Amino acid sequence: MKAIICTQYGPPEVLQLQTVSTPTPRNHEVLVKIHATAVNSGDVRIRGLAVEGMMKWLMLLVMGWKGPRKKILGNVFSGEVVATGIAVTKYKKGDNVFGMTGFSMGTYAEYMCIAETKNLLLKPNNASHAEAAANVFGGQTAIHFLLKAGIQKRTSPKVLIIGATGAVGTAAIQIAKHFNAEITAVCSSNGLALVQQLGVEKVILYDKENFTACTEKFDIVFDAVGKTNKKQCQPLLLPNGMYKTVGGWEVATETIAQLQLLKDLFEQDAYHAVIDKVYNMEDVVAAHQYVDSGRKKGNVVLLIHQDSTEKK
Ligand SMILES: NC(=O)c1ccc[n+]([C@@H]2O[C@H](COP(=O)([O-])OP(=O)(O)OC[C@H]3O[C@@H](n4cnc5c(N)ncnc54)[C@H](OP(=O)(O)O)[C@@H]3O)[C@@H](O)[C@H]2O)c1
Repeated sequence: MKAIICTQYGPPEVLQLQTVSTPTPRNHEVLVKIHATAVNSGDVRIRGLAVEGMMKWLMLLVMGWKGPRKKILGNVFSGEVVATGIAVTKYKKGDNVFGMTGFSMGTYAEYMCIAETKNLLLKPNNASHAEAAANVFGGQTAIHFLLKAGIQKRTSPKVLIIGATGAVGTAAIQIAKHFNAEITAVCSSNGLALVQQLGVEKVILYDKENFTACTEKFDIVFDAVGKTNKKQCQPLLLPNGMYKTVGGWEVATETIAQLQLLKDLFEQDAYHAVIDKVYNMEDVVAAHQYVDSGRKKGNVVLLIHQDSTEKK
């Protein structure tokens, strides 16, 4: 099969399209023919070893000293089950599935194996493979942090989302709306149209005004792009308010319940895929260069197999 191999840590050019052997599913695994994956901020961070201080040592320890031990990056997918291990009961050949592989990665490839008990579900029935793959990374992260901030326990919470136009930010808007939040978004002038399209009325443009000078107070301040710290945002919080950031040591969990919520909301037309650009597998270097810019709006999709009959 064709797969994108991360030959070493470095610039996007370290990614090479190579031919490797197609994996065989073990007893509890399904073999997924991947139709779409996404190039996420996490992928470019690993490829470029783009972390500071202690985090760099930790990443080298976890990911591999000389280069990523797992040579095939990518951790979200949407595709079709083409074979099953003998003990698989939940899925059958022909099922369309989507999900996340976490630190196992391996989705920048034509095929991958995943245990049926891991983070996968039947694809939302109204989603294309590109949409399904695009929803997962930001969606899982936003749900994790907003739940940790107690959004589910608050009545019509006032939520400030900093960095509202990235993969996590656009997901956070939609998840906060699901919890009846009154949202204020912080983004640049370039992102204004997008956040308005997602239904946000109150917007602070960080390139025009200092959002920390905002006089309004919030139940939750969620920094979805990791550009602030607690001290800076503390004055924006109501007495029981909570600050959360993607930029600290807290790592988002990826759970099947969160994936189920994303699927349900998508099927109810209450969650939409925000796709900035779509690249073919062969153009992965360009896709990484774009994501490296830190300016993408929502998600960047990488199409792997395009020979299928898309549901949408
Ligand atoms: N802790 C965890 O478990 C976890 C999980 C997932 C992601 N993350 C981290 O979360 C961060 C965001 O991820 P992502 O995938 O959403 O990134 P992304 O999609 O690449 O985010 C880029 C977006 O952020 C906006 N932006 C850049 N600088 C900004 C600023 N100073 N203020 C407000 N908006 C700004 C950009 O728009 P403009 O250029 O128009 O401003 C762009 O739309 C990454 O650093 C990632 O590593 C952490």
